Amino acid sequence: MKVKLHIWRQSKASTAQNFAQDGKMVVYELDNVSKDMSFLEMLDFLNDKLTREGELPVAFDHDCREGVCGSCGIVIDGIPHGPQRGTTTCQLHMRSFKDGAEIYLEPMRAKAFPVLKDLVVNRSAFDRVVQAGAFISVSTGAPKDANAILVAKDAAEKAFDAATCIGCGACVAACKNASAMLFVGAKVSHFLHLPQGQPERDRRARNLVTAMDKEGFGNCTNQNECEAVCPKEISVRVIAEMNREFVRAKLREEPPSHKRVGGDG
Ligand code: FES
Repeated sequence: MKVKLHIWRQSKASTAQNFAQDGKMVVYELDNVSKDMSFLEMLDFLNDKLTREGELPVAFDHDCREGVCGSCGIVIDGIPHGPQRGTTTCQLHMRSFKDGAEIYLEPMRAKAFPVLKDLVVNRSAFDRVVQAGAFISVSTGAPKDANAILVAKDAAEKAFDAATCIGCGACVAACKNASAMLFVGAKVSHFLHLPQGQPERDRRARNLVTAMDKEGFGNCTNQNECEAVCPKEISVRVIAEMNREFVRAKLREEPPSHKRVGGDG
């Protein structure tokens, strides 16, 4: 099959002052593309051709190519990860496109995800949010038997649904507010339903939401674009849970101690 690719090419990293102004869409025509190629294999094929012709290859992120690491992520025809629901870019195949298709490829841009080069964005903001609280603290020692702590099936399923988040950032790229609430909600929900998540429950919700705001992600206005493009089809239920957990944590906060004014009297 033949495809005409319109690809965002950007040689310099974006800055807060110069947000995505250094790039432009460049057109590439590619012949002999197999419909059985994955989308990333098609880009490898293009890069091979560009390299042989003495041009710079297109930079794009990838690692596992199995839909589990969350590294890949291209906005394809205006949709993060492309037209197939519940599918990462690396798991998308060329048979999803018609012969002769014109395909538009852009990076997952957002204020908190500056473009580094071509289709690669810096998603380290997610790492900093995770470091703020998406974990449980456990003493070191021998691992416990997996069945030592019993978890009800319903709770285990809710936790597992949230734990499938791969942190790809599609939710942010799809949202008109560049909100990361589906991602952060998934981290809150993952531990909320498990007994191991209870001791740090309040601190986790407070710290994750605070870190998310500090990184410059926007707020949720209930458009649900995030759920529609999430390759793991995580439900917006996790956003409601995160909001509830944050309010609960704030209400349970110790009131600030009032200093006495006017001496010991
Ligand atoms: S490369 Fe790992 S999820 Fe796509």
